[in-house]
Amino acid sequence: MGSMQLQCLALSALIFLVTAGASKVPAVIVFGDSSVDAGNNNQILTLLKSNFPPYGRDFVGGEATGRFSNGRIPPDFISEAFGLKPFVPAYLDPNYNISDFAIGVCFASAGTGYDTATSDVLSVIPMWRELEYFKQYQDRLKGYLGGNKSKKIVNEALYLISLGTNDFLENYYTLPKRRLEYNVDKYEDFLVGIAENFLRQVYGLGGRKMSVTGLPPMGCLPLERTTNLLKGLGDTCIESYNNVSRSFNAKLGDLVKMLNQELPGAKIVSANSYSIFYHIIKRPSLYGFEYSNVACCSTGLYEMGYLCNQFNPCTCADANKYVFWDSFHPSEKTNQIIADYILKRYLHVFM
Ligand SMILES: *[C@@H]1O[C@H](CO)[C@@H](O)[C@H](O)[C@H]1NC(C)=O
Ligand SMILES: *[C@@H]1O[C@H](CO)[C@@H](O)[C@H](O)[C@H]1NC(C)=O
Ligand SMILES: *[C@@H]1O[C@H](CO)[C@@H](O)[C@H](O)[C@H]1NC(C)=O
Repeated sequence: MGSMQLQCLALSALIFLVTAGASKVPAVIVFGDSSVDAGNNNQILTLLKSNFPPYGRDFVGGEATGRFSNGRIPPDFISEAFGLKPFVPAYLDPNYNISDFAIGVCFASAGTGYDTATSDVLSVIPMWRELEYFKQYQDRLKGYLGGNKSKKIVNEALYLISLGTNDFLENYYTLPKRRLEYNVDKYEDFLVGIAENFLRQVYGLGGRKMSVTGLPPMGCLPLERTTNLLKGLGDTCIESYNNVSRSFNAKLGDLVKMLNQELPGAKIVSANSYSIFYHIIKRPSLYGFEYSNVACCSTGLYEMGYLCNQFNPCTCADANKYVFWDSFHPSEKTNQIIADYILKRYLHVFM
């Protein structure tokens, strides 16, 4: 072997070591609702679960982990892209312990919202308790790795925060209480106020790198389209709900700008995926999908959770042809496209 080759070999080994050791994000820490829940609801008393087939049929081993999809969800793809594990485990899952959670942990709970009145609807984990779990996690991490190392992980981790849909669809537009108290514009402000408090608390607990994902085009979820269908409006998107998504996301974006200016060392991104999601729904064939108006599971019109189960003969054979897995949640393929978009567009600053 010539000296030139040896030098190249040494150089590439060095590059390998540098890139392998230089992941600036030592852990991915997740808060939010079913868009990012990896299975915490399996461990609590609620009707909102997905730890049974056909959920998870395209996950490793076909396991129904409690993720609301046929396979992986966005935090899993994001963790993998940062050189960490290809999935982020649920904090309440007894199959994982602090050595797993040291590089990725999910506190999210399907059905939750910024508003505690939302998490009460289906008795799921409110955001304040997700934060309590995060504090408990920090104590366990300290016990496991010592104070300095655990502090470094908490400071340098990437925090993914994704929720808000349930506040509108499960709560505001379904139950009368909040509608009597607030018009929709004021309710958005109320939620953004809670989001602000939440982000400040994560910052106060040591978090610096955060990604906040707002609302998808809520009016285009198959469940909502079915409402229009029943009203004789065809399976069109409910434009007023999409308006709310855009308006809420814009307010969340302003909040993020303000906090970045105010909080020293904070680097928060508003990972708005409304546009890409809307584009996928409107032009599914451009992304290799065949259907975006109905979901894969069962009739695809209204089923999710217990109604999407293995006893339904109508469930599609290939979820990759569908933008939506159940009437409320994207298929794994959509999750991957959205995660890739978020990584390239927003999270590259943390790479
Ligand atoms: C975590 O679990 C793994 C495998 O089950 C085990 O080897 C390890 O000792 C556990 N670590 C801690 C800190 O409990
Ligand atoms: C932790 O960090 C402090 C301050 O940087 C240092 O003085 C101390 O020796 C460190 N402790 C350990 C166990 O490394
Ligand atoms: C949606 O918003 C646009 C402008 O922001 C408005 O003109 C339109 O009437 C709204 N549509 C509904 C259904 O609320």
